[in-house]
Amino acid sequence: MLSISIPRPKCLQKPLAVPQRHMFGPGPSNVPPRIIEAGAKPVIGHMHPELLQIMDDIKSGIQYIFQTQNPMTLAVSSTGHSAMECAFVNSVEPGDGVLVAVNGLWGERAMDIAERLGSRVNTIVAPPGAFFSNAEIEQALSKYRPVMFFLAHGESSTGVLHPLDGIGQLCHKYNCLFVVDSVASFGSAPLCMDQQDIDIVYTGSQKVLNAPPGTAPISFSERACQKIFNRKTKPVSFALDLKWLASYWGCDGKPSRVYHHTGPVSGFYSLRESLAVFAEEI
Ligand SMILES: Cc1ncc(COP(=O)(O)O)c(C=O)c1O
Repeated sequence: MLSISIPRPKCLQKPLAVPQRHMFGPGPSNVPPRIIEAGAKPVIGHMHPELLQIMDDIKSGIQYIFQTQNPMTLAVSSTGHSAMECAFVNSVEPGDGVLVAVNGLWGERAMDIAERLGSRVNTIVAPPGAFFSNAEIEQALSKYRPVMFFLAHGESSTGVLHPLDGIGQLCHKYNCLFVVDSVASFGSAPLCMDQQDIDIVYTGSQKVLNAPPGTAPISFSERACQKIFNRKTKPVSFALDLKWLASYWGCDGKPSRVYHHTGPVSGFYSLRESLAVFAEEI
């Protein structure tokens, strides 16, 4: 016979207390009432047609904010780190060469993720606060011949906004994917994915978009999809497998959606509203 032996937590008997705060860091940022209200709408099923329509709206919003026509555009059901892992887990196979620009914390994290995947990681390193010239990047691309080059657009640990122009073309010259972390920079600095030849870009809902944390816009170019969908091994993560995500988000051109996971319904409402606000303002 089962009996309850752990007492009710006393802390949960007190009302939830959350202070009003002005958030001046890179994120999370304050969430305006319109976006909070969107997130408070009734929860519906994650495969209900109305929610699938909301996901389609989100897709269009992300294509707008990243200025891309990529059909493979969606929101990861988690924070920026998962979008980062989604980029790596899908694109990199064991033994693949990865080049990471390290000029702060986010380059170091990218290196860690790439190492965990069994890739051959090479770095270009600059002191915190510094950045890389296109000549330095090209030299490393030609020396290491990686399949992927990672760069943080906004290195939030130091405040460096890295120039992006010309790097995508350099990567493509060496048959390499250009991956940009725009979690801290997106919306505060110009970024046009297609024009800048970026293959994978991601951000987080909780920064410039002013939505609560928990969803992460990401987009993949045709070139990235070619690499991802022709891999010899399955990505090590089921939750972040782009084939599954694509069928859940309707990015695979097929008429019906396939259940992959239960999307964060309320988070999707907030994200949709934040994208609508962004599109009204910019
Ligand atoms: C540049 C950059 N990349 C990635 C992340 C990770 O995002 P999250 O904390 O949403 O997982 C952050 C978070 O501050 C960031 O500033």
